[in-house]
Amino acid sequence: MMMTKGNILIKNAAELVTCSGFQAKKGKEMSDLHIIEKGTVVVENGIIKAVGPTEEILKSFPEENYEVIDATGKAVLPGFVDSHTHVVFGGYRAEEFSWRLRGDSYMSIMERGGGILSSVKATKEAAKEELFKSAMARLDSMLSFGVTTVEGKSGYGLDHETEIKQLEVAKEVNEAHVVDVISTFLGAHAVPKEYKGKEEVLVNFFIEKVMPEVAERKLAEFCDIFCEQNVFSVEQSRRLLTKAKEMGFKLKLHADEIVQLGGAELAAELGAVSADHLLQASDEGIRAMAEAGVITTLLPGTAFSLKEDFARARYMIENNCAVALATDLNPGSCFTESIPLIFALATLYMGMSTEEAVTALTINGAAAVDRADTIGSIDVGKKGDIIILEFPSYKYIPYHIGVSTVEKVVKNGMLVFDKEK
Ligand code: NIG
Ligand code: FE
Repeated sequence: MMMTKGNILIKNAAELVTCSGFQAKKGKEMSDLHIIEKGTVVVENGIIKAVGPTEEILKSFPEENYEVIDATGKAVLPGFVDSHTHVVFGGYRAEEFSWRLRGDSYMSIMERGGGILSSVKATKEAAKEELFKSAMARLDSMLSFGVTTVEGKSGYGLDHETEIKQLEVAKEVNEAHVVDVISTFLGAHAVPKEYKGKEEVLVNFFIEKVMPEVAERKLAEFCDIFCEQNVFSVEQSRRLLTKAKEMGFKLKLHADEIVQLGGAELAAELGAVSADHLLQASDEGIRAMAEAGVITTLLPGTAFSLKEDFARARYMIENNCAVALATDLNPGSCFTESIPLIFALATLYMGMSTEEAVTALTINGAAAVDRADTIGSIDVGKKGDIIILEFPSYKYIPYHIGVSTVEKVVKNGMLVFDKEK
């Protein structure tokens, strides 16, 4: 949003959880949150200017020059980065959710023309204003959970016009909302009926007709693909992503979500910024991603909602991966903006420590959108994107199960959400 940037001083935090660092944290590094007790952070013109113990900072930065927040008895953290969402979409699939409760599988619904394809139909039919309005409301909800940056994908168009429409809406939403939205082109998200058995033709269509326009108009920074059995093969994914890279896109993959196909290995081979889902990723694939510096983005809300086994977070961390966590907010496999739900699942069901989960939603989330140099931690020079909890420690985040502990959110140095008001 083209908003003014604020000058704010947040003082006396019981814990100033800085998550300090300018790159992804791998393996054991994920446990180190770099906490300053009784800490103060100063933001000038939207950018963090000073971080340290309160007494020291107040000597050089007099309070009268700033809007002051007294964080006595409260924990202060970097804003969360939700690095995998499908936030712009038309229509809902509540009916499909009841079918899944009855036992139908996600893929069987998709194969008979429902699932993603039903959201495609609704998104094609939706006016831009409707898509804009619903995405803005979802971002309000995300902001209330402490999210200050969101990645958002296309992929509910599958044709030229609607893919572009979705990306244009994402751009407008980014300009209108305080939360930053980073766009990803995910044209290759599903195969429409008329292209069944002709996936190669569809891949060519994206490469030749849609991606050049998306690149030229800078409508997306990343390119993603649903690399999955009965959707796009490893070969097709390699071909599309290689072209995407040549056009200047950074890469992401929906990899090894339902079937172990080799998406993790492909992400490592292509030097993708992140590979996401990874419920079925192989041991070799996991080691290859750690080696290649691919962020492994885990989406436990989706595994939960699909009643699948969770991704092997512990194995990934032990093998030196940089794990990020995200919601995967979408109308089908995981309709939630809830960061508290993600914390609950990551800690109670995936064996992640609270420290690792915090890292996964801050600096590693930032790395998953290639912004570890500007967001994701409370470090001098980074954006003043900061959250204040209503409790004295980050340890309350998963402990208060399923409930948001975020009291205030500061974006670019401006107080933009306050539970108390
Ligand atoms: O990340 N797996 C593919 N795509 C989405 C789901 C999209 C949908 O069901 O609408 C996902 O889970
Ligand atoms: Fe997704």
